[in-house]
Amino acid sequence: MADSIIVTGGAGYIGSHTVVELLAEGYKPVIVDNFCNSEKSVLNGLKKITGKEITLYEGDCTNKSFMQRVFEETNPKGVIHFAAYKAVGESVEKPLEYYHNNLVSLLVLLEVMKEHTCNTLVFSSSCTVYGNPDELPVTEETPTQKAVSPYGNTKQISEDIIHDTVATKTGLGAVSLRYFNPIGAHPSSLIGELPIGVPNNLVPFVTQTAAGWREQLTVFGNDYNTPDGSNIRDYIHVVDLAKAHVKTLKYLESKSSFYDAINVGTGKGTSVLEVVTSFEKITGQKLNYKIGPRRSGDVEQIYASVDKSKQVLNWETELTVEDALRDAWNWQQTLPKAN
Ligand code: UD1
Repeated sequence: MADSIIVTGGAGYIGSHTVVELLAEGYKPVIVDNFCNSEKSVLNGLKKITGKEITLYEGDCTNKSFMQRVFEETNPKGVIHFAAYKAVGESVEKPLEYYHNNLVSLLVLLEVMKEHTCNTLVFSSSCTVYGNPDELPVTEETPTQKAVSPYGNTKQISEDIIHDTVATKTGLGAVSLRYFNPIGAHPSSLIGELPIGVPNNLVPFVTQTAAGWREQLTVFGNDYNTPDGSNIRDYIHVVDLAKAHVKTLKYLESKSSFYDAINVGTGKGTSVLEVVTSFEKITGQKLNYKIGPRRSGDVEQIYASVDKSKQVLNWETELTVEDALRDAWNWQQTLPKAN
């Protein structure tokens, strides 16, 4: 029998792509999602891609009795915990909601995992824990910095909570994957990112502008100390990122009372203006954009050292930024016009 893996937030952007890769590797994903930031239609996309009916528990990860029932009924071998609020700006407006949702869901999960002797956890962390790094590329030894947003702080606190739980030596093996900037969509165009309202992130804003949903893209600053003056990020294709989760599960199979944090990126920095130029080249779409002021809280540049993920997970990216931009654009074109 295939091992069941609970995927909290499995209907979300990264979660749904990970469900596809779990099935491809012979696991039985169990989606737990409350659809607060995802659509039920994702399940149809998943079914078309995989040809399989995927088990879904609709509910809130902060609800302990609900989570206990999920564990009782599915007896999972491990958990990949995606479910969380993720908008940096919104977290500044609604800190209590962010701390409550992101931290209580993790606490409940760890308690229920302990009750059920479920000892494998992959946690969605973020490169945001490094803040504005002094040296590039950032390695996992690069010191973390005080978070600039409640969202970022929930990731730092979550990493600490997992670390301290592992230190009690009850058998839990856990890895925090520190994502750089996930972009793109499944090459089938059957699943992808579904931002609610006006996107904050660069690539959905780019594709929506090209599609005519948005008037104009604003590039937030061209006076940074970078070759073309715009910010530099490490954009990783969401399918590569999804595969990293499956590799991490396999890595944890032989681990007990173990914790580590691992960067998940391409190792290559790309500027905002390079994203714009590549997008135009790949899609043949002219993008209406202007240079605007800096966005507060943006770090000048950040990209990953990928040595550790290569060494310990035996994983590295296979797809390029160009692949991701093409897939994001193909996905965008399948979407009905929003507001
Ligand atoms: C940040 C965090 C990331 C977090 C994510 C959640 C860092 C380094 N990264 O990503 O960990 O998961 O928020 O949302 O803290 N841009 C424009 N115009 C736009 C939108 C974006 O120029 O309309 C630029 C931004 O200034 C930035 C780049 O595009 O330089 C990427 O921005 P975005 O996609 O929002 O991601 P980050 O802010 O890098």
